[in-house]
Amino acid sequence: MMSGKTLILGQTLGFDADPFHTPVDEAARYERRGAVLIENGLIGATGSADDLRAAHPDADVRDMGDALISAGFVDAHAHYPQTAMIASWGKRLIDWLNTYTFPEESKFSDAAYAAEIAGRYFDLTLSNGTTTVCSYCTIHPESVDAYFSAAQARRVRALGGKTCMDRNAPDGLRDTAQDAYDDSKVLLEKWHGLDRLSYAITPRFSPTSTPEQLAALGALWAEHPDCPMQTHLSEQTDEIDWVLGLYPQARDYLDTYEAHGLLGPGGLYGHAIHLTNRERDRLREVDASLIHCPTSNTFIGSGLFDMAGLTASGHRVGLATDTGGGSSFSMLRTMAAAYEVGQLNGSALHPAQLYWLATAGSARALRLDSQIGNLAAGMEADLIALDLSSTPAIAQRAERAGDIWEALFPTIMMGDARAIKAVWVGGQMR
Ligand code: GUN
Ligand code: ZN
Repeated sequence: MMSGKTLILGQTLGFDADPFHTPVDEAARYERRGAVLIENGLIGATGSADDLRAAHPDADVRDMGDALISAGFVDAHAHYPQTAMIASWGKRLIDWLNTYTFPEESKFSDAAYAAEIAGRYFDLTLSNGTTTVCSYCTIHPESVDAYFSAAQARRVRALGGKTCMDRNAPDGLRDTAQDAYDDSKVLLEKWHGLDRLSYAITPRFSPTSTPEQLAALGALWAEHPDCPMQTHLSEQTDEIDWVLGLYPQARDYLDTYEAHGLLGPGGLYGHAIHLTNRERDRLREVDASLIHCPTSNTFIGSGLFDMAGLTASGHRVGLATDTGGGSSFSMLRTMAAAYEVGQLNGSALHPAQLYWLATAGSARALRLDSQIGNLAAGMEADLIALDLSSTPAIAQRAERAGDIWEALFPTIMMGDARAIKAVWVGGQMR
């Protein structure tokens, strides 16, 4: 008899609190022999395998053995159009954009190409255990339709928007202040809130927008404050110098957004590496989200994000791949890079903190933490089963582990898509 209920058995890991502010043993909820009940696409219950088996004898049981069951990964900042040019050699931010990124993004005026890459992107991210992404599209409305259509076909949660640029970009990749407003509004009305999709208002960054365009998008955001707004902030020092030259009235980089209605809760600021004290204080005051993109920050040579300082001061922080400035689609690899960046900055992030960032923390940064990013009754059943012995090198290390954190850390540091044993999206196994 099909009850419509599925009971997944394995080790389970969820969070009752943020492990940056609560001791790990209290913040994390781990069961050696745990279970997650899926019902109607949602998590119906979590607990010990014995208890849930007894309570739900009619459920279909899927025993994942020793695999670790957790929420799927949440990638809070990516560029799906950069999928095919990931790992392009030898440039820093502005040169990298001009040499590799803009020519590739130009191709997205072709709806068929956009659809091909969007499909490829979601297949890659799902195979890496990522069940929610927040991505930039390109200037072309077709690229937004392709993105949301591909997400919708796979039933994954996705956030994204048309990347607006009206200066300092090549022909064919510029709109105007008015077009940015009009196109974004049409796309927002078409996609925002449909199925599992959210429209993110997306000025690329201050150098590629005129003050008029930033103001137009600020006005759109004021009309739709429930939409997220995503952009880039203080990624490289020469980028900051450029911004200050383009906006002579601005007190700092953040002020170019603030002065045009683009600073607020719901704002997602990618990178945020080289911040002044005023910027840090203002971002905290408005409770904006800072998105750490560690593989990108090392790959493009941008700098070290101050995770310890910014979490201590109570900033809302998420984690992201930033593909294709980032060098991996894997949130495991991204956690490893966050660990390495932390070490270079003098603080070793605990595996619980890394895992929280990649799930509940990113969900919180996207303000979706009541729906995704954790194992708890009522949350959407976006889950993964992680094999903690996915390669011989990882297996021989994990064998010696004394606790779950020692068992998990080798997979964080050395794991990749091979560690993703199963993925559930909205309760459906992929
Ligand atoms: N700043 C503006 N655009 C981009 C982009 O596409 N990638 C990265 N890493 N930084 C940016
Ligand atoms: Zn980016």
